[in-house]
Amino acid sequence: MRVIQSRINTRDERYQANYAAMSTLVEAVEEAQRATRAGGGEKYVKRHLERGKLLPRERIELLLDPDGYFLELMPLAGQGIRGIEPGGGIVGGIGVVSGVECLITATEGTVKGGAINEWGLHKSLRLAEIAEKNRLPGVSFVESAGADLMNQSKIFVPGGQTFRDITRRSKERIPSICVVAGSSTAGGAYLPGMSDYVVMVKDQAKVFLAGPPLVKMATGEVTDDESLGGAAMHSRISGVSDYLADDELDGIRIAREIVSHLNWRKHGPEPRAVEPPLYAPDELLGIASADVRVPFDPREVIARIVDGSRFAEFKREYGGTLTCGWAYIHGYPVGILANHGVLFSESANKGAQFIQLCNQQAIPLVFLQNISGFIVGRQYEEGGIIKNGAKMINAVSNSEVPLFTIMTGASYGAGNYAMCGRSYDPRLLFTWPNHRIAVMGGEQLAGVLDIVRREAAEKQGIAVDEQQLGMAKKMLETQVNNESDAFYATGHLWDDGIIDPRQTRDILGISLSAASNRAVEGTSQWGVFRH
Ligand code: COA
Repeated sequence: MRVIQSRINTRDERYQANYAAMSTLVEAVEEAQRATRAGGGEKYVKRHLERGKLLPRERIELLLDPDGYFLELMPLAGQGIRGIEPGGGIVGGIGVVSGVECLITATEGTVKGGAINEWGLHKSLRLAEIAEKNRLPGVSFVESAGADLMNQSKIFVPGGQTFRDITRRSKERIPSICVVAGSSTAGGAYLPGMSDYVVMVKDQAKVFLAGPPLVKMATGEVTDDESLGGAAMHSRISGVSDYLADDELDGIRIAREIVSHLNWRKHGPEPRAVEPPLYAPDELLGIASADVRVPFDPREVIARIVDGSRFAEFKREYGGTLTCGWAYIHGYPVGILANHGVLFSESANKGAQFIQLCNQQAIPLVFLQNISGFIVGRQYEEGGIIKNGAKMINAVSNSEVPLFTIMTGASYGAGNYAMCGRSYDPRLLFTWPNHRIAVMGGEQLAGVLDIVRREAAEKQGIAVDEQQLGMAKKMLETQVNNESDAFYATGHLWDDGIIDPRQTRDILGISLSAASNRAVEGTSQWGVFRH
C-alpha cells in the first residue's frame, strides 16, 4: 500500500490558528470531564468515603488489568441538561479484565443514592447495546436507590428494557457479573436479580424490593436493612447472591476471578503486526478546521491514524468529494470513507459501491464525517441526487460489517445519514470538539424560515413586520447554533463521547478490537437500489 505524502506546513497561519482553537476546545472538554468526576459533590463524596466505600472510578480502576485500558464512554451524558448531574449518575466504558474486554459500569452512589435518572437510563441502554452488539461480557458495580422518584414518569416504562437486555445477552451467552457494593432498592435490586453472577459485599450490600420503611407501611412488618436484604442473608438464605465478599477489594478480586474462568474467546479476526503512522497525531489539532465551513483534506487525517500512513485509495479520480480506501488501524483491516466537501451523485455512488465491496470481504468500515450535506440545485436534481444519495443510505443501512464513525467537523443534513450518523447503528461514534451537528447551519436554517415566512405573508396579503421578523430570525439562529454544539450533542447522547483528536487512532484501535469479539461478517443482500 502507498504511503500518503502529507502536505501540511506547521508554520502556516491557518494551521496555527486551527491548532490554537482546537487546543482551547480540548481543554474545555477535559475541564468538563474533570467536573463529572466530582460525582454528587463534596458533601456526598465525603460521606461516601467516611463510610469506607470506594468511588465508582476507583472500583473500575481496581478491576482493570494493570497493563489494560479503559475507554470511558459518554462521560458528559446529561451535560447542560437541567437537574441532571453530568455523566447521568453512571460511569461506563470498555476495559480489560483478566485479559478479556468487558463492558464495565458503575453507578454513582454519591448522586441521589445512585438513583437512575432519565439521561442515566438512556446512557445505560446505550451501554447495554454496545455490550450486545460487540459481544462484551459485562461487569457492573451497583449501588442504586432505584428510580429517581422525582422523575419517575420519564423512566419507569423505558426502564424495563434495562433488565430485559441483561437476560437477552445471557441467552446469547454474553454473561453479566454484578458486584453489589451498597444499597440497591427496587430497580436497583433487579440489576443483581437478572445478572448471571452476583457478588455481594458483606455489611455494605443491601438488596430489597422495598426498604424497611416501605415494608412497614405496606404490611406493618418491622424489620431492619441487614435482615431484610443484607449480603449475608442473600448469600446464605435467599440465594440471590452467589459470592459473599469480605469487603470491596475482595468483591473486585472475585469479579476478576469470574472473568478469568469464562473461557472467553473472541470470534472476530486477530490483528496483524502494527506499524505506527509516519506523521505525528499532534498535527491533527492544526489540520481540522476550527471553522467547520472551511474544508480540509481528509487524507491528512487518514495519514495520522492508519498503520504506516499507508492507504490504498479507491476511485481517486472519481467522485472526489468522498475519499474511500483501505488501510489497517492497529493491525485491523478497515475501509475508510471520508468527506472532502459536499456529496455529489458521483461521490454517493462511489460510497455505495465501496460499502458493498467491504461487505463482500467482511472489512469493518470507518467513516470520517465532515459533511455539509448533499449538493442542491436544479442541475443536480435532474442528475438524480436524491436516488444516488438514497443508494448510499441504502448501503450503509444494510451493511453488516462493524461500522465506526468519527465526526471530524460538520454533520449537516442527510449527509449525517449517508455517512453513518447515530441512527445508522455505528458500533461506536465519537466526535472531535470542533464538531457541529444539525439539519443545517443556524444562519441557513434561520434564512430559510425567514423566506418561507415572507412568502406566506405575501400570499395572505399581509405586510411583514421587519423588526419582528428580524428578531425571530436572530433568535432562531442563536438557538440552532447552541443546539449544534459538540457539548450539546454529547449531553443529549448523540454520540459516545467527545475525544481529543490526537487519540483517534488508539480509540479506533480499541473499538476495532472490542468489535472483534463478535465474528465479522459482511453481506451481499441489499434493499432495492434505484438506478
Ligand atoms: N429518588 C430520588 N432521590 C433520591 C432517591 C430516589 N430513589 N433515593 C435517595 N434520594 C436522594 C435523597 O433524598 C437525598 O437527597 P438530599 O440529600 O437532597 O436530601 C440523597 O438522594 C441521598 O440520599 P440519602 O438517603 O441521604 O443517602 P444514603 O446513602 O444514606 O441512603 C438509600 C441511600 C438508597 C438507602 C436511601 O436514599 C433510600 O432508601 N432511598 C430510597 C430507595 C427507594 O425506596 N427507591 C425506590 C425506587 S422505585
